[in-house]
Amino acid sequence: MFAESTYTQRRQELKKAVGNGILLFLGNDESGCNYADNTYDFRQDSTFLYYFGLPYAGLSAIIDIDNDREIIFGDELTIDDIVWMGSQPTLHEKAAKAGIKDVRPAAEIEKYISAAVAKSVPVHYLPTYRAEHQLKLLHLLGIKPGTETPSIPFIRAVVNQRNHKSAEEIAEIERACNVTADMHMTAMRVLRPGMRECEISAALEAVAQAAGCRLSFPTIATINGQTLHNHYHGNICQPGQMLLVDAGAETEMGYAGDMSSTICVDKTFTPRQKSIYDIQVASHLAAVGALKPGVPFKDVYELSCRVVCEGLKNLGIMKGDPTDAVEAGAHAMFYPCGLGHMMGLDVHDMENLGEVWVGYDGQPKSTQFGRKSLRLARPLEPGFVHTIEPGIYFIPELIDLWRGQKKFTDFINYDEVEKWKDFSGIRNEEDYLITETGARRLGKKIPLTTEEVEALR
Ligand code: GLY
Ligand code: MN
Repeated sequence: MFAESTYTQRRQELKKAVGNGILLFLGNDESGCNYADNTYDFRQDSTFLYYFGLPYAGLSAIIDIDNDREIIFGDELTIDDIVWMGSQPTLHEKAAKAGIKDVRPAAEIEKYISAAVAKSVPVHYLPTYRAEHQLKLLHLLGIKPGTETPSIPFIRAVVNQRNHKSAEEIAEIERACNVTADMHMTAMRVLRPGMRECEISAALEAVAQAAGCRLSFPTIATINGQTLHNHYHGNICQPGQMLLVDAGAETEMGYAGDMSSTICVDKTFTPRQKSIYDIQVASHLAAVGALKPGVPFKDVYELSCRVVCEGLKNLGIMKGDPTDAVEAGAHAMFYPCGLGHMMGLDVHDMENLGEVWVGYDGQPKSTQFGRKSLRLARPLEPGFVHTIEPGIYFIPELIDLWRGQKKFTDFINYDEVEKWKDFSGIRNEEDYLITETGARRLGKKIPLTTEEVEALR
């Protein structure tokens, strides 16, 4: 945990921003995987972690702004808990580390909330993402499913605080990024033709575990990089193929790293692989070069798309004016994802609170295929931490569909695209902090160009 003052100051700021009523925080519970006692790895809710720091199951909390009270609700360990899980500090002792003196039994939150509801005191809550949260919320508020109304002022206040990373958060994220970089460089060193994808995922996950970290999301290590989130690890890596790795570490405090790399299974890339890879790197570097406060990330995305279109035009895969192609959405045939996302206590930071608040500051998102997948669009501000991860993918089903629909025939040379249908996909991803004057990469540099990757093979 950070020092007690970090949490008390964060709550102080939050109270000022929302102004009145009760702020409700539902911590996460243990969740049975195949039976109650065989639980999924416990992960505390990130907003609970941000304001209260306690990584334990079974807690909830309120901040009663009008009465200036901050309360954690939870039960002390029983002797049964101690027999199975060992002795621990008391909940009062744990809560004191977050500057909370008022600790009450878990069941008492019901009384507190129903008294507030009876007096028409506004109870602010955030969107739920777990079924048990939703059930708890419906029960506490006495409302029917489908009538939940998460508090926009609460969401906006949390997003505004969490989007701006403090120096101590940046240090923690950078630790996650350094471990993440080691995971990728390990994959680059150990991959050999004939290995199964799971051998690579195992090797890189061991690096995270040995550093005392967990994974910030399920590892992608696939020869089918054209599938954006491919979690299957059963294929053999064959000569002439590429392995796309997207993996990250999360520190004990919950801060994430997230990087991607595309590795030749052989010691070197083929000229054909290199021709697409170089375009991806050019797009990546153009995006990085454009990062500074005040620049809308949407513009950086558009730039990265234009570079992809120009490169593909040079190869004869696309045609026409790259700017027009991007505006029309033709680039999304090869680049159907966004350029990056906020990163912090969640790998896609606060996605549960709504991308429109986190990445768009309340402005509407595009509904166009490809552009709609851009998670971050707002003007950049110092303290933002986000990824840069353009990609180039040849997705056979999408190629067939659009060809059949004669879509974007002014911009896509379908006869040429046919020749690349089995190419798979390329993505490289780094993590950046927006500074007062520009941007700084977080964590050790991992190989980005084909030459840099080959040097580790
Ligand atoms: N690294 C996983 C993602 O960004 O979606
Ligand atoms: Mn990412």
